Parts: sequence; structure tokens; C-alpha cells
Amino acid sequence: MKINYHVSLKDFNTFGLDAKAACLIEIEDWDDLQALSDSTSDFPKPYYCIGQGSNLLFSRDYEGTLIRMANNSWEVIEEYQDYVLIQAGAGCIWDEFVEQTLAKGYFGLENLSLIPGTVGSSPVQNIGAYGAEAAQFIERVHCFDWETGLFATLEKEYCEFGYRQSIFKQHPSWVVIWIEFALSKMAQTQTYYQALEDYLEKNELDSGNPLVVRSAVVEIRNSKLPDYKKIGNAGSFFKNPVVGAELFESIRAKHPQMPFYVESETTYKIPAAWLIEQCEWKGVRLNGAGVHENQALILVNLGWATGKDVLELADRIVESIKNNFGIQLHPEVIVL
Ligand code: EPU
Repeated sequence: MKINYHVSLKDFNTFGLDAKAACLIEIEDWDDLQALSDSTSDFPKPYYCIGQGSNLLFSRDYEGTLIRMANNSWEVIEEYQDYVLIQAGAGCIWDEFVEQTLAKGYFGLENLSLIPGTVGSSPVQNIGAYGAEAAQFIERVHCFDWETGLFATLEKEYCEFGYRQSIFKQHPSWVVIWIEFALSKMAQTQTYYQALEDYLEKNELDSGNPLVVRSAVVEIRNSKLPDYKKIGNAGSFFKNPVVGAELFESIRAKHPQMPFYVESETTYKIPAAWLIEQCEWKGVRLNGAGVHENQALILVNLGWATGKDVLELADRIVESIKNNFGIQLHPEVIVL
């Protein structure tokens, strides 16, 4: 186990915020996991497990211990005629895993290309993009609970996957260790998401080829989303809100051009980016934080932001969407 005290978190969160953690440990084997629940261990409390810190906002210094998984390899553990079962370590970098599986001819994850973060965090908030989400490919998740010291395997039906949610989000003491993914040996692309379909059509690309779809997703993301290595951010800051028919119809009557997705017979999902843009937040700066110029759902660190700056901007946006549309936005990022 690697243990570091009084660590700067600048390189451990994609917002690039300069908070500090009292302790940061890297888990390398089973004994390290057991040590977490050993009552004689004197690591500062509370514990929190992080991946690449791509969905976190450190609003202040972290007084406890941050835990990172170091296991970063994957292998095929079972092979069938149409698909393979892959076991991937929580410490794998997500996009490297996507790229490597596609290169070997194991398909499915192409729409989830270029999402920052680790494999271990993929089930926690059920990462999703361009009409696909991690839950579609996860078979089971192996984890460890530092509160009880027990290991457990959760079959997908017990993971309570939903839009940017899962059972893991409700149990911060569970550390994801490995995940088993079922990936197809036959190309079965999903390209109905409007921005993806438009891009493929406009460029006359083969929408049935997963490698082409990956390149398209990479292009679209690079053109819209800021690179966190250049300008700190944590992707979408808020979830897209789901509203009932009455509120939806009343907003639509005033804004017939409003984009939306039908969620169920009585509920609709509205892009938070559209709401934020309507309230004229796009490009607005407040102290060291800002709203990205190309994608209003992304809050950025202009270079000198503190976690408080980002939170203050987020709070003002939430208030203005509530006042103008009667919709409550909820953060997608986890605030620590
Ligand atoms: N739009 C605006 N203004 C903007 C940006 C977008 O009005 O500044 C409108 C457009 O009409 C667009 C619609 O919002 O058609 C949706 O925009 P986009 O396709 O960019 O997707 P999103 O809903 O903003 C979601 C995910 C992203 C994911 C994309 C693509 C959430 C919270 N975010 O964003 O995920 O990459 O779809 O599938 O669901 C993330 O979770 O960190 C993330 C980046």
C-alpha cells in the first residue's frame, strides 16, 4: 500500500482545484483492503474512494483519507460464440479500456469513448453518453465494504442502475474492486442519438462500424467539451431534470423550440444545458469559476478557482433556473 499524508489534490481532480487531503492511500492487494476495516488502523477518517476525480468537486480540504485502487489490468475470463466476459480492474483508465477492447474486436463501449475516469467509477454513477450507458454492459460488480470488512459480488439486477445512479452511490463505504463486462464479438452499434447520427450522416461515415463510431464520438466530444488538462472541469455539472407533463407543457407553450426527451408516458427530460443557456449563463464568469462557452452544462475552473467559487456559481444557476422555470436542478458531480 502506498500512503501519503498532506497531499495536494490538484492532480487528483479534473477541476484542477488545489485542495489538500490529510491522507491518500493506494490499494494494491487484499491485505490493503482488509487494513481499511481494521480498527487498529490509524488512517484519518472519514474514508472516501476516488477514481480519477473526474466527477468530484472538493469544496474544501479533505480531512480524512482518500482511497484509490491501483489494479489496472483486464482480461477475458469466459468466451462464448457471440460475446466475451471481461474482468476489468477498478484502476483501469476508462477510455484506455474502451480503446483496447474495441481494438481486440470486443464491441459495445464505443459510444462511451473519451469519458474521463476509471473503470471502478463507471458503475457508481452509471456513466452514459450518446444513448448508451455502462449498465448495459455490466454483468456483475465485485466490491469490498470497509465498514463490515466483507467482500461481495453484486449481480447487475441488484445494482439499482438508473440515470446517473446506482446502489454504489448510496453506499460510500463500498469500494469497487473489479467489474465483469459482457461485450459482443459482433458489431451492434447504437447511433440514434441526434448529435451522433447527424455527425455520421454529414460526414458520410459507416455507422455500423464501432471503430468509426468511436472516432465520431471522440470528434464530437473534443469539439464541444473542454479538455480538463487545459481547462479544469468535471463534465456535466448538473443532471438533466425530469419533469411532469403539466410543468413540461407550460414551459413548452412559451418555448416551442425547447429540446426534450420523452422519459415515460407522463415525464420528460429537459437538457439542463438549454435551461442554463436560456437564463443567459453561457460564458458567464464569477470569481475563478465560469460557465463553458460551448456547453452550458459544464462549469470550468478559469485557473484560479476555489471549490467555493464553483459552488457559488452553481448555487446561483440553480436559483435562477428555479425562479425562471420552476425546475430544481441537482448536481451530477459529487461535492466533498
Ligand atoms: N444545449 C443547449 N445549450 C448548450 C448545450 C446544449 O441548449 O450549451 C441543448 C441542445 O439542444 C442539445 C441538448 O441541449 O441538443 C443536449 O445537449 P448534449 O447533446 O450536449 O447533451 P447534454 O444533455 O448536455 C448529456 C450528458 C453528457 C453526455 C452527453 C452526450 C448528462 C448530465 N450529461 O449532456 O455527459 O456526454 O449527453 O450524450 O446527462 C457527463 O455526464 O459528464 C457528460 C458529459
